[in-house]
Parts: sequence; C-alpha cells; structure tokens
Amino acid sequence: MVVQGEGLVKRYRDVVAVDNVDLAIEDHEILGLLGPNGAGKTTAINGIIGLTAFDSGEVSLFGRKMKRIGTDVKRRIGVVPQDIAVFEDLSAAENVAYFGRLYGLSGTRLSEGVDYALGFTGLSERRDQRPKSFSGGMKRRLNIACAVVHRPDLVIMDEPTVGIDPQSRNHILESVRALNRDGATIIYTSHYMEEVEAVCSRVVIMDHGRVIASGTQSDLKALVEDEEVVDIELERMTPDVVAAVSAVSGVSDCVPDGAHLRITAERGGVRLGRIIEKASEAGAEVLSAHVERPTLEGVFLSLTGRSLRD
Ligand SMILES: Nc1ncnc2c1ncn2[C@@H]1O[C@H](COP(=O)(O)OP(=O)(O)O)[C@@H](O)[C@H]1O
Ligand SMILES: [Mg+2]
Repeated sequence: MVVQGEGLVKRYRDVVAVDNVDLAIEDHEILGLLGPNGAGKTTAINGIIGLTAFDSGEVSLFGRKMKRIGTDVKRRIGVVPQDIAVFEDLSAAENVAYFGRLYGLSGTRLSEGVDYALGFTGLSERRDQRPKSFSGGMKRRLNIACAVVHRPDLVIMDEPTVGIDPQSRNHILESVRALNRDGATIIYTSHYMEEVEAVCSRVVIMDHGRVIASGTQSDLKALVEDEEVVDIELERMTPDVVAAVSAVSGVSDCVPDGAHLRITAERGGVRLGRIIEKASEAGAEVLSAHVERPTLEGVFLSLTGRSLRD
C-alpha cells in the first residue's frame, strides 16, 4: 500500500469536510478521487500529505504510520495543487529547478530532473520563457513539471484540468498515463467523470465528506447495471411533462436538464414508446432519444439523486 487512511475526519466549525473516510491506494494504481465541488477531495489530499492535520484517523504512507511527515517521505511525493503555484518572474526552467532543490536535488541530478520534467510536459522549447506569457494550460503543465522533477513514487494531482484548453487537457491526461507507466502511483482528483473514466484504474467517489462508493470502474458500473438511462430531447418541456414521464411505471428518476430529460429506468422494464407517448400527451414533442450505457455519472446520480456537474 502506498497510502492507507483509516477513519479520517476533518472539521471546519460545523462543516465536516472529511467524514470518517477510509482510503487505500496500492502501488502502481491510478486512483481517481471523484466528487462534486465541496465533496472534501482537497481536504482529504491535504491531510494525507501533511499540509493540514486530521482531527482523527490514521495515515500510513509507503507502509509506515505517519504522525508528522518527514523529509525522506516528502521527497517521494509530488503534489500538483489545485491552484496554480508558479513564480511568474522566473523562467519555466528556473521554476522547475527551484522545486527540484526543495526536493533535495542538486548538480547533475537537478539538471537532468529539469530536462526530464520539461520534456515530459512538452515545455522544453519554452524553458527560458516566463510563465507570464503562458496560457492557463501551459501554466498547469509547468505546475506538473515542478511536481515531478524529483521523479516521485507518488504523484497527487488535484483537479489539474480545471479551466484549460482541450489540447493541454489531453496532454495532461496522457502525462498521467506516462507517469504511471514509468512506475508512479497516482491520485487523480476531479469532478469530471469523463477524465476519471479515461485514466483511472480504480475510483473512489466522495460526496459531502464521505466515501459513497469505491471500486474498479466495472465494479461501480455494476451498481447501476439493473438500470438504464434514457436521455430524451424535448420541445416544450414543462413541469407537467416531467411529471407525466416520472409517472410511467418502471421509471425511477427523471431529471430535467435544459431541453433534455434524463430518465433512469429499470433495465428492459420500460418501453421508450411509452415514455414518448406520455411526454406527447403532456404537450411536448420528442426530438431525439438516446439510451446510455452505465457511466460513473450514472453511478453518482443513482447514489445521490444529483448530477455530478451541479
Ligand atoms: N480552510 C477551510 N475553512 C473552512 N471550510 C473549509 C476549508 N477548506 C474546505 N472547507 C470546506 O470543506 C468542504 C470540502 O472542501 P474541499 O475539500 O475543498 O472540497 P473539494 O476539493 O472536493 O471541492 C467544503 O464545504 C468547504 O467549504
Ligand atoms: Mg478541491
């Protein structure tokens, strides 16, 4: 086990940000920590790396129980924080070197580390430029370079793709896979289920400070296997239409989202024709309908009754 947390609790006044969480991350895993904003992901991460103290619970890192995290352990961890932290007035290479020194590198190991980290994040050609001139996505990649300069065994990325262009996003997802292939264990925090689906071998879903589900993607999808989600696009959506569709037998949930209705129904138990008929009787016109395969979004919806995107 690279990380093991048991009974982790963190309170901020009356908010229980992390509420009795157990976490176990095995060597070479890419663990996705998935949950909506405010679920407690960052608080859990910050506690694990010793940035904040849990009110109770125990953390082991690399098989050793930690009260305080020593320098030797810190040097095996690379953290990409949720908020970009780079020095605007230093060049890309100087930024990475600064972090390399913090992690104890010097001399050839430092310069090799800087080359590796910049190459790895696709920033070699911009090594002498300052991040002032960088796009948000490039700054993110620099932030990642700073976190991997010392080739850590455990890399923790906290929402590394928020607010960036699709090209940088793909670059980051690819770099997560590459780091993992090179032997690193990864914790990847996100509220985008597509990203977690794309890169993570195992997933922990958090909501309101609690772990509400965990397992491999297929374990989690099996939780909703007996359901199917039908997405219909409507003209003239009204509360009457939502009520009429909700009342169709076999429909367990019906959530309007713009011109779409997301309908959760018993697998094979509901005929699409029946739904369309009821929607039309209530005054709507069905423009299109899609039956979706189980997704992590569906798992979250089914467990909480809410969409992850909220
Ligand atoms: N320093 C803090 N002081 C007070 N409340 C906080 C602090 N940090 C986080 N919280 C609260 O704890 C909860 C979890 O936050 P956070 O861990 O940032 O969630 P996530 O990273 O999943 O979006 C939220 O309700 C948030 O408002
Ligand atoms: Mg967060």
